[in-house]
Amino acid sequence: MEILRIRGGTRLEGSVPVSGAKNAALPILFAGILSDQPSQLRNVPDLADIKTTLKVLETLGISVTRDGDRVGLHAKQLSSIEAPYDLVRTMRASVLVLGPLLARAGEARVSLPGGCAIGARPVDFHLSALEKLGAVFDIEGGYIHGRAPDGLRGATMTLPFPSVGATENALMAAALASGFSEIQNAACEPEIIDLAEALRSMGAKITGEGTPLIRIEGVSSLGGMNHAIAPDRVEAATFLCAGLISKGKVRVTGIASHYLGSALEVLGSMGAKISSGTDWVEAESTGVLLPAHLKTAPFPGFPTDMQAQFMALMTQAEGNSKIEETIFENRFMHVPELARLGARIRIQGNEALVEGPTRLSGATVMATDLRASASLVIAGVVASGETLIRRIYHLDRGYEKLELKLSALGAQIHRETEK
Ligand code: UD1
Repeated sequence: MEILRIRGGTRLEGSVPVSGAKNAALPILFAGILSDQPSQLRNVPDLADIKTTLKVLETLGISVTRDGDRVGLHAKQLSSIEAPYDLVRTMRASVLVLGPLLARAGEARVSLPGGCAIGARPVDFHLSALEKLGAVFDIEGGYIHGRAPDGLRGATMTLPFPSVGATENALMAAALASGFSEIQNAACEPEIIDLAEALRSMGAKITGEGTPLIRIEGVSSLGGMNHAIAPDRVEAATFLCAGLISKGKVRVTGIASHYLGSALEVLGSMGAKISSGTDWVEAESTGVLLPAHLKTAPFPGFPTDMQAQFMALMTQAEGNSKIEETIFENRFMHVPELARLGARIRIQGNEALVEGPTRLSGATVMATDLRASASLVIAGVVASGETLIRRIYHLDRGYEKLELKLSALGAQIHRETEK
């Protein structure tokens, strides 16, 4: 088993490049199913979830090539319409094959998803949106089986909640459905905009992405895609938090500040000095860290994927902070692990009350999910002595070369194989 060993107490300073966004790359890779022409993607991060996605695509008969951050896809013919349990169980986003497969092949079978254990995370919004386009679904043997024997037809899909994944499935399916579609109450996350741009590079006719109303004029076929994946705003925020907890100064490059709007507002309110250029953002400690109250919400609200990292930072604030989690019902699993490092955090329903400042001291902790693991790394940067993080496969699902990037900023962090 691999572990991370961190020796806390060093000040982080410097500049770090942000990788392509996992959450943008996953749906865009699945969009490759929609065309029988070759596609080219750039800035694809090297992550466990990307490898899983490429394996899912290969099991469908799609040829995949990879060279550094470039991925080539060619779905000339599909040899299967099934995303099998062994792959899907590790990655919930596999459910994103549904829309593209139904649109391209008229049929899809996907194992009911697994992924991070952060709440119930059903897929009912995905299914009801695709049903509006004419698909019918059965659940059999742990699999969702969808069929669209007469092809998909454009329709109005109104989401009960602006689900990111349901918006993506609906968008990909509608791009190849006959006629006009609308997605009402669509998610507005930057990753949706990136998917729409990638689909447009294939010839899709989409307007309104980034707003709650997306309009799609279906086309009968799509060409190959040529697209560079947008930067990872969650990775960027993680580095900014790590820099601030160390009282340092970290610049993330390859990302513009609009990706990080609400996170930068909170960091500014906590006393950080924020500056930015066209493709970089910097957060510098002013020596003062103030408490904050934040509430996760769909974009442009505060992202749930950054909540755990900010919680680690709040343990060092001069006063008590509060986090209200409104997106997922079980997303405080990092709290007992942060407590092992000395944090004092109380959970009341969907709120976490973080006492600050507390002195953290190194201990052995366990990563419980992807973003929770990042909060432990951030806490480890400031904890006295050594912090050992186990189960870092969670971290490898979403952070590319994390220990190398943090080392370059001055952190003392190493990956080791535990005997
Ligand atoms: C995506 C992101 C994830 C992020 C989340 C919220 C990817 C690969 N993952 O996940 O990192 O934390 O957005 O920003 O992009 N829901 C239902 N029924 C559905 C779909 C969702 O009830 O059919 C609920 C979920 O349980 C959750 C909420 O809606 O409570 C938001 O989920 P959603 O936006 O769909 O998240 P994901 O797309 O799974």
